[in-house]
Amino acid sequence: MAPKISLTRYLVEEQRVDGSIPAQLRLLLEVVARACKSISLAVNKGALGGVLGVAEAESENIQGEIQKKLDIIANDVLIEANEWGGHLAAMASEEMEGIHVVPNRYPQGEYLLLFDPLDGSSNIDVNVSIGTIFSVLRKPEGAGVSEQDFLQAGAKQVAAGYCIYGPQTTLVLTVGDGVAMFTLDREQGSFVLTQENIRIPEDTKEFAINMSNMRHWDEPVKRYIDECLLGKTGPRGKDFNMRWIASMVADVHRILTRGGVFLYPWDKREPEKPGKLRLMYEANPMGWIVEQAGGAASTGTQRILDIQPEKLHQRVSVILGSKNEVERAASYFAPV
Ligand code: AHG
Ligand code: MN
Ligand code: MN
Repeated sequence: MAPKISLTRYLVEEQRVDGSIPAQLRLLLEVVARACKSISLAVNKGALGGVLGVAEAESENIQGEIQKKLDIIANDVLIEANEWGGHLAAMASEEMEGIHVVPNRYPQGEYLLLFDPLDGSSNIDVNVSIGTIFSVLRKPEGAGVSEQDFLQAGAKQVAAGYCIYGPQTTLVLTVGDGVAMFTLDREQGSFVLTQENIRIPEDTKEFAINMSNMRHWDEPVKRYIDECLLGKTGPRGKDFNMRWIASMVADVHRILTRGGVFLYPWDKREPEKPGKLRLMYEANPMGWIVEQAGGAASTGTQRILDIQPEKLHQRVSVILGSKNEVERAASYFAPV
């Protein structure tokens, strides 16, 4: 049982292998947590806030998807909360084409923040868990800040986390020393540590994939899932269960809680795209969290955190979760 301390105290007391968390990073994480708290309130309000509904959609994002109002609200909350704190040089979001440099009138910090303000948008209207995913990088030395500064491999992240808005609002965080979970205590208005040193079991009998895309899959993915489906009498010798929530935050949260493997692989629908999920806002932060909990994250042919990004909104094929399952699935891909 984790000691019931607040996120603030946790961040002050946490000792990583390389020492304590720098004050700027600590304060930055607190600001992100505060922003997530207000997003949580907006999500909870639902239709009362007048922000739901595809019919009310305002615009398309640069990925060509319809933005719900709540996506935009979450994006604005994160930008506004973070731009004047003095901890950041710039931000990048799934919902903005270019980077958002901290305006000159505010103090400039040494970190870069990336986020998917609301993950699982298709679940907003149907009252299913959604979340905010974030990643923190250090700004490279030198004057000014550019998009190029964000193009760092996931292994360079200094903090990553997500906040899931479900039956409970839970913040999950890594600063490179394991994974901790904080539950929002609405009466106190603060995130309280509820689990430390989360470990993902190395084996699992549960997979998550959008089965409706089966006919478009590549051979290795088809083989891996076919073998799972054959159950006890097949090569795996055990029956598998399946879950697909269509909110990556919720699927990853389940995997952190009880193990499992999540796949959103490249497929033949749009062969020129490397995958659906975004490297910088989804795969890197989730990949690092999963690795920090003893799991693995791969494209099938490469460790996700080793990818050298070429552009901000880069997409990637994702297989993550219980280590032995990820390794098995990856072993079906030919080495490149
Ligand atoms: P977002 O809402 O930020 O665009 O992300 C949705 C992602 C991810 O959360 C989820 O795993 C996946 O899209 C679901 O995709 P399908 O609808 O194709 O199953
Ligand atoms: Mn997303
Ligand atoms: Mn999103």
